Amino acid sequence: MSASREHFSSKIGFILAAAGSAVGIGNLVGFPVAATKNGGGAFLLIYAFFVAFICLPVMLAEMGLGRRAQHSPYKAYAELGQGMKRWRFAGLMATITPFMIAVFYMVITVWIFGYLVQSLLGNLDALASEGYFGRFVNDYDFIWYLVGVTIIINFILVGGVRKGIERASKILMPTLFLMLILLVIFVLTLDNAWAGVQFYLVPDFSQITGSVINGALAQAFFSLSLGMGILITYGSYFRRSDDIVTSGKLVAITDTAVAFIAGLMTLPAIFAIYPDTNPDSLSDSSVSMIFSFFPNIFLALSESVGYFAASVAATIFFLLAFVAAITSLVSIIEVPTSSLMEKRDISRKKALLVMGVAITILTLIAATSFGLVPWFTAFTSYAGADKSVFDVIYDVFYDTILPLNGLLICLFVRFRWKRSQLTAELSEGNQAYATSWLEKYVSFAIGTFIPLILAVVFINTV
Ligand code: PHE
Repeated sequence: MSASREHFSSKIGFILAAAGSAVGIGNLVGFPVAATKNGGGAFLLIYAFFVAFICLPVMLAEMGLGRRAQHSPYKAYAELGQGMKRWRFAGLMATITPFMIAVFYMVITVWIFGYLVQSLLGNLDALASEGYFGRFVNDYDFIWYLVGVTIIINFILVGGVRKGIERASKILMPTLFLMLILLVIFVLTLDNAWAGVQFYLVPDFSQITGSVINGALAQAFFSLSLGMGILITYGSYFRRSDDIVTSGKLVAITDTAVAFIAGLMTLPAIFAIYPDTNPDSLSDSSVSMIFSFFPNIFLALSESVGYFAASVAATIFFLLAFVAAITSLVSIIEVPTSSLMEKRDISRKKALLVMGVAITILTLIAATSFGLVPWFTAFTSYAGADKSVFDVIYDVFYDTILPLNGLLICLFVRFRWKRSQLTAELSEGNQAYATSWLEKYVSFAIGTFIPLILAVVFINTV
């Protein structure tokens, strides 16, 4: 099978595809709001520190493991773990996790698509009306948007690695970047925008608590698409001569830069429209920010720039969010799809069909668990609270399982695959790596304190 395995055609193709995975809804809203609420510049520093010193080594390990094995996560762990049960568990986790995250991310993407269509149709005033989001999620129109998103994703994935994922990333990622810059420039010209920049950037170290630090690491993990099997899978599409180390660094830098720049759009927009906003009052949930808060911001904007211009801005915003979400979804659905292709030795089309049906059914369950089908909610109630299926998947897989998967790969490298093997793998395509400081750091950290920290984060979130 590995002889016929598809590979990315170029380094830039891989970088854009991996950056497409990493840049998602978390970057556009989640990160800027978390930073503003939790110490501004102080949060940014801690976040950047985590990206460089904890996430990058894990990222290199995932990519190295994937390329060495030339398989998707399940088989990669099975083969390099020489069939030992406990490593099969790691492979299983790296296959189930993306599947479940695909479901909750799919629900959000479908909503974004719905909002995009509505703002394109000029219905911004409806989107901003009281209680719209609640009605929107409890309306069966949802299904049409689900069909739309499913078609787009399959259209990309059926093309495979080069003609699908890589080609789409090469078009979508520059477009995303352009839209983001346009919106930043637009927002920064609004009155009062600089107050938002200030809240975002001025450091306040008194806000830094244990739970803020924990949250920053979880956010960095999610944002870089770690612990989801994605980088193992994409690593397996790397050629032996490709430079994993430089590519990994560039993906981490791109993702962090986009998150940072998004803050220059999100926060100034909020403060330009509502100058008296207290940062603490902003919602922690990206979902309520995107669907309840932002439409109001755009509608309020129409008082100064007119309804048409405000609708255009809203449309660009939802298109931006949609592109960010689609490139992430593609990467995450690719993981179980390619595992299935390998395991059953079936074609990409067949695997996509099976995955498509499975994910659609679960998406329907998750999306109708807000009230349309009360049984789904009653079924998942716990701890005295009503939880939708969506909430449950989110709670379990967003910040709990990812550090666990990160921990498993560290232990795998330390005890089974061996760090010298990782170094050898990463040095292919980058000979200087073997004798670099980075190598010394990665080998040391991945065998000692990174797994320790991830274990602490995992236990804390449980
Ligand atoms: N990195 C993505 C984000 O920040 C998270 C993600 C990646 C989610 C891939 C799903 C699939 O939003």
